[in-house]
Amino acid sequence: METGRTLPDRNLALELVRVTEAAALAAGRWMGRGDKEAVDRAAVEAMRLVLNTIRMDGIVVIGEGEKDQAPMLYNGERLGTGDPPEVDIAVDPVEGTTLLAQGQPNALSVVALAERGTMFFPGPIVYMDKIAVGPEAKGAIDIEAPVAVNLRNVARARGKDINDLTVVMLDRDRHKKLIEEVRRVGARIRLLPHGDVAGGLMTAMESTGIDILLGIGGSPEAVLTACALKCVGGEIQAKLWPRNEEERRKALDMGYDLNKIYTTDDLCAGQNIFFSATGITDGELLKGVRYFGGGARTETLVMRSKSGTVRRIEAVHRWDKLMQFSLIPFD
Ligand code: FBP
Repeated sequence: METGRTLPDRNLALELVRVTEAAALAAGRWMGRGDKEAVDRAAVEAMRLVLNTIRMDGIVVIGEGEKDQAPMLYNGERLGTGDPPEVDIAVDPVEGTTLLAQGQPNALSVVALAERGTMFFPGPIVYMDKIAVGPEAKGAIDIEAPVAVNLRNVARARGKDINDLTVVMLDRDRHKKLIEEVRRVGARIRLLPHGDVAGGLMTAMESTGIDILLGIGGSPEAVLTACALKCVGGEIQAKLWPRNEEERRKALDMGYDLNKIYTTDDLCAGQNIFFSATGITDGELLKGVRYFGGGARTETLVMRSKSGTVRRIEAVHRWDKLMQFSLIPFD
């Protein structure tokens, strides 16, 4: 009888670990030095170098803008050795450049891969309105429903009272009304200065105490969050949020539907998604890079949607060995 069972196949997430580790190690040197460009440059260069060593034919779908803005990892850039498998790539070499430049918590280096053609390209729309939860509350959210209804349903799914819930959102003026609504129903709020990929992931990690992500953040970050939550069985819903009339017109001209609710699967339809995030500064999700004389320690969250395996990899990197061959100036 055909069981459909196979030997373990290649898990590209295990190769992505080295990508986000390299970016975190390079960018971590710039912690608290107030230089966002240097932070990004260091991470991008390291990330590109290691991604290009991976046996894959990758195209950046979620990158950092257009080709002429070098040294960014630009949308449409081809990465990898050019051999199969064909994949879409989403990168955020430093998720929270300001956090890192200012030495604040929760800066991460993030990358995700999925089958070619499965990642949503948000085009010119910089922001999306989002609601995201971990696996326990999957199916309990509706981005169109009032905040009170969502919080009641998530509380029920999590076996809690509403006043036990913690909502995470970016600390932005645009969230004033949302904050009032959450306060009115009695839930607690954790405001993040930056970094809503970390916020989205927190909803799926029990140890963080976060139950739900609400609010408007970057569109690329919505796709990365979808990739991560798909690996752990969580859920995100998002809607495009044009900042002004010009952006709205542009989106409509390009055929985007501004009323559409983008589900987790709309944001990433892949069934074999690989995700890796390495901590750069200390945070709820991951420890940041620790430099010691002659090396550094990193912590990385590594996940795959097909198997649902979640790994935490703590690595020790030693300059005396690494710097004999590494092109990346880690030391
Ligand atoms: P960067 O790492 O690109 O600086 O993004 C940080 C971030 O906070 C994201 O996590 C979030 O989605 C987005 O910026 C929000 O944008 P804004 O700061 O314009 O509200």
